Amino acid sequence: MNKQPAGPRGLDPLFRPASVAVVGASQKPNSIGGAILGNLIRDGYSGRIYAVNPNAETIKGLAAHPTLAAIGHPVDLVVIAVPARFVESVVDDCIATGARGIVIITSGFAESSEEGRRTEKRIIAKARAAGIRTVGPNCMGLLNTDAKIRLNVTFTPIWPPTGNIGILSQSGALGLTILDHVRELNLGISSFISVGNKADVSGNDLIEYWADDPNTDVILLYLESFGNPRKFGRIVPRVARKKPIVAVKAGRSAAGRRAASSHSAALASMDVAVDALFEQSGVLRTDTLESMFDVAALLATQPLPAGPRVGVISNAGGPAILLADACEAEGLKLPELAPETINSLREFLPPHAGFQNPVDLVGSDQPEDFHRAVQMVGNDPNVDAVIVVFIPPLLTTRPEDVAAAIARAASEIPADRPVLNVFLSSRGTPAMLGAGPRGRIPSFRYPENAAISLAASYRLSQWRRRPEGQALKFPEPTVARIRAIIESAQATAAEPGWLSADQTGELLDATGISMAKAELSPVESAPHAADRLGYPVVLKAIAPGLVHKSDVGGVVLDLENAEEVRDAITQLKSRMTKAGLKLEGVLVQRQIDSGIEMIVGTVTDPVFGPLVVCGMGGVHVEVLKDVAFRLTPVRDADAKDMIAGLKSLPLLRGYRGSPLADEQALASTIMKVSALIEVAPEIVDLDLNPLMVLEPGKGIVVADARIRVQSKADG
Ligand code: COA
Repeated sequence: MNKQPAGPRGLDPLFRPASVAVVGASQKPNSIGGAILGNLIRDGYSGRIYAVNPNAETIKGLAAHPTLAAIGHPVDLVVIAVPARFVESVVDDCIATGARGIVIITSGFAESSEEGRRTEKRIIAKARAAGIRTVGPNCMGLLNTDAKIRLNVTFTPIWPPTGNIGILSQSGALGLTILDHVRELNLGISSFISVGNKADVSGNDLIEYWADDPNTDVILLYLESFGNPRKFGRIVPRVARKKPIVAVKAGRSAAGRRAASSHSAALASMDVAVDALFEQSGVLRTDTLESMFDVAALLATQPLPAGPRVGVISNAGGPAILLADACEAEGLKLPELAPETINSLREFLPPHAGFQNPVDLVGSDQPEDFHRAVQMVGNDPNVDAVIVVFIPPLLTTRPEDVAAAIARAASEIPADRPVLNVFLSSRGTPAMLGAGPRGRIPSFRYPENAAISLAASYRLSQWRRRPEGQALKFPEPTVARIRAIIESAQATAAEPGWLSADQTGELLDATGISMAKAELSPVESAPHAADRLGYPVVLKAIAPGLVHKSDVGGVVLDLENAEEVRDAITQLKSRMTKAGLKLEGVLVQRQIDSGIEMIVGTVTDPVFGPLVVCGMGGVHVEVLKDVAFRLTPVRDADAKDMIAGLKSLPLLRGYRGSPLADEQALASTIMKVSALIEVAPEIVDLDLNPLMVLEPGKGIVVADARIRVQSKADG
């Protein structure tokens, strides 16, 4: 048998088949197979349709064939809607008769039992070996609105309007809702697919397919799980550079519930891994289905804004203020308009109108006022995008006329500036908004929806402008040194694999990350070690089994002389005894009194692999959770983004007279940690916390570090 090409064309038998057979088509009312056959016929599928059922003569006017073989020639796409126990034999028939694609609607496989999982695996392996791509099982089917194809092999009675959005839903039920909404919102779709258990055709396959599909400009994903997030991370950034990808937030996994053995692990969850993956790949993640559709409506019709500056025109003050607030909250700006714009507005608006951004037409519902204001603001040199808010206040004008005026004005402003509309009317948005030469102007139900969507579109615009960046790669001698340390640590580290203070120091030194000067010392000679290092010093307890030192008072700060060091030793001894531990020695460390406390660390997600975290450090890290995650390898552009996205960024940039911090050195530490994990994947936990970021040019100093390696047996 010939193998199908691995690339997107391999999915053509699914989306563009020349013939379709429905196995399990039935006359019974409400039968799923019957509904699929009915949809194929009703929606005008362009190819040949076959019904397969051993117990019927004709179904919906078509002759029923008892088996696929009885059709007498190969069929491109076979849709299987027979009970689970018969599915495998139908797949065997598909292989024997030369089918090229299969959709298995039937449920009762990997999602329901171990036996189901085994059967699913066997079926998919057979189909793949025969070069057949399979959708499902446990799915709702797929749909292609291309006028040349008109394929509906779902059991929903909905035929959505044709358009440029490709939709993937991992949930069948949600898929139905999505299709329903598409129609209601008057969005157009190119194709829809419910992927079910994703046993063969995956999200990654579909993104690759749509990347090359001329009918698809925007990709919408509802995903609940990732089969191969690393592959997603490789494929998607390429696609997101040419076609926007919008994903709605998926569920959470067990990863976040895992017992947390480090700060970095406690901060992580499946959710942050998904966020990191989307962030790095240029996927816009929305929190709700509603905003997924809003963002899609904008991206499907308007260009990405070049900048964050929004010009707002409204005929009512209240909604304009709400919109202005929402824009600011989303990181957009309402700039001052150019004096020429204000002068032109004064020529036709009443003196009490608002001439500053937002421009307030004070109750006017005159189409010509809207036309001129939108045209003027849209051409203002300070503006990157325009949002028009219209409330029909009086019944002196027809909303259709205002909509037509806005649509006309939209075509008279630069084509690279998006235009959005908020039509605050319970009677919906007039179709005239799509009647102008510029095509459809998206309309949003409330001001906030418009602001959220424009901000998402601007994020993508920024992401596309950002250089791809480079990840750090250590030179060969560094790699060899790191490997030697890791291997010796694996041989000597006490379970559960925490590195000793010496090993930790050595590993960071090899990585080029500077640690505060320190000496490991038996308790008796600690004062001498302190004298050698210079004061002030910090004492840290060394005791077998001690992980979170500050939880048991294992760290004493601000020691100014040998006398204070001796007192601190006495204190540490009694605290360790109280905690049931034995003080075996101390780490005497030079105290760092300057810099901003941050954390850089790593955590390994079972599905997503290693992630690097950076955030505000110190003891409050888990309370404040001001952190950013990225999957390894972290590129320089990602490292900068991580820092720029922190709420504590102002602290690094000299908040209220505090000194500036060496952001560059912090970014470089993130990259070094990422490079370390790439060459030493045995590191399962790593916390540099606190890591003090010094003044620009002075770098960073790690005050405390904890590193855990997987033992050889675990690996
Ligand atoms: N070849 C062809 N036809 C076959 C067949 C075979 N090997 N075995 C059975 N059939 C026919 C049956 O005779 C029946 O036709 P009839 O009504 O004319 O007798 C038809 O296929 C359907 O079989 P039936 O036993 O009536 O099953 P059903 O319609 O009740 O259920 C499924 C079939 C696939 C719908 C059901 O097993 C299922 O999986 N439902 C869940 C689907 C789902 O929710 N998917 C996920 C959505 S997100």
